[in-house]
Formats: sequence, C-alpha cells, structure tokens
Amino acid sequence: MSQELWTAVDNYINEITIAPDAALEAASAAAVAAQLPPISVTPAHGKLLHLMVRAQGAKRILEVGTLAGYSTIWLARAVPAGGRVITLESNAAHADIARANIERAGLSDRIEIRLGSALDTLPQIAAEKLAPFDFTFIDADRTNLTEYFDWAVKLSRRGSVIIVDNVVRKGAVIEASSEDINVKGVRRFNERLVSDSRVTATMVQTVSSKGYDGFAMALVV
Ligand code: SAH
Ligand code: DHB
Ligand code: MG
Repeated sequence: MSQELWTAVDNYINEITIAPDAALEAASAAAVAAQLPPISVTPAHGKLLHLMVRAQGAKRILEVGTLAGYSTIWLARAVPAGGRVITLESNAAHADIARANIERAGLSDRIEIRLGSALDTLPQIAAEKLAPFDFTFIDADRTNLTEYFDWAVKLSRRGSVIIVDNVVRKGAVIEASSEDINVKGVRRFNERLVSDSRVTATMVQTVSSKGYDGFAMALVV
C-alpha cells in the first residue's frame, strides 16, 4: 500500500463519481494560485459531506475553517431553498479567496463567512440565536478542537450531526506521549468525544490523495 496507489484510486473514484464541475474546479485552482495550503477536503470527501447533509435533510449548517470555500461549496449545494451555511475563518486572505469562489459558484445568497477566530465568533453566533444547526463540519486548528466541538454541541439539537476532520493524523493519534500540538489537540478532543454523554460517536480512518487520516462523526442524542 502506498500513497501512489491511494492517489490513483482517489483519482479513479473522483472520475467515476463526480461530474466535471466548473465552480469546484475553479475554487481549487484559485486556492493553488493563491498558494494556500493544499488541505481542502478531497472531491470524494466533499461529496461525502454533501450526501450526509442531503441524507439528513439539514437546512442550517455551521462550518469551522473555510480556507478557499471548497468544502463550503459542497455543503451549501446540499441545502434546500431557504437553507444557510455559516462558515468561520480567522484568516482574511483565505476568506477573500473563499468569497470569490462562492460568488463564482452562485452561492453567495446562502453562505455567510464570519471573519475572526472561531473562539470569538462561536459565542457571537450563540448570542445571535442562529442555532440550532442541523449539521456542523469542524476543520480548523486542532489546538482548540475540544472548544469548537463543545460549541458545536451547544449550537445543535437532538439529531444534529457533527463531523470533525483529521482525527487520525497518519496514525499518530494513538501516540499518548506525542508532543505534537496537533496530535495533543486531537487526543484531548477524542477523549472528550467518547466521554460526552450529549453525543454518540465513531471515527473512520481514511486514505486518499491527502494521505492517511480520518474523521469523527458525532450524533447529538
Ligand atoms: N474546510 C476547508 C479547509 C479548512 S483548512 C475545506 O475543506 O475546503 C483550515 C482553515 O481553518 C484555514 O483556512 C485556517 O485559516 C482556518 N483557521 C485556523 N485557525 C482558526 C481559528 N482559530 N478560527 C477560525 N478559523 C481558523
Ligand atoms: C491539515 C489540515 C487539514 O484540515 C487537513 O484536512 C489535512 C491536513 C494540516 O494542517 O496538515
Ligand atoms: Mg481537514
């Protein structure tokens, strides 16, 4: 098993399951052109998020970590008329690129980008009574992952789904003595996830063109 094979199979999956899509391709190209880190969800994982939202019938979506808006576009296209995505981003340059990508995708009317650290914008969203959100995708820094998750649960209702990206980190998640701040952040989160009686959860390992990682899924009970 190798990265080369994972990438080849990922390309194959993308080719057979995802029709050519000008807006998504333009969003990826804009992220590359702006030299953003290549950490958007893959097309197949974007479509997985999209299908989860549709299967759940979610109308109100929260995202933590916008980058170029690639995952945001997949999420927003899954909500019915009147649905809404609020996406949180701390980096103004990322938010500018995302705004242009979202405009090009024709989704500006249903996506709102909130600029600022999610530790600041999440309490604002709570105060504005925009909750409950049916579906939350957490994909920002790992240091504050536990805090983002806690807010996501507070902003949810019974039956809401919360997906958390990058909880396996090439398998480093099982290294209890790791000094890597990302691994420490994910481990602290995972411990909370499995002991939080407000949710029931699982974790799925993945391989893709982005390597070996995984996501957690929590259902608010
Ligand atoms: N969800 C995107 C990728 C997000 S990458 C996609 O799949 O297309 C992670 C993003 O989180 C980056 O843009 C980074 O700037 C942002 N971020 C990092 N720390 C943050 C914070 N404290 N608050 C909000 N966003 C943050
Ligand atoms: C990284 C961040 C991500 O959100 C991701 O999906 C993959 C990698 C990173 O910071 O390395
Ligand atoms: Mg991610």
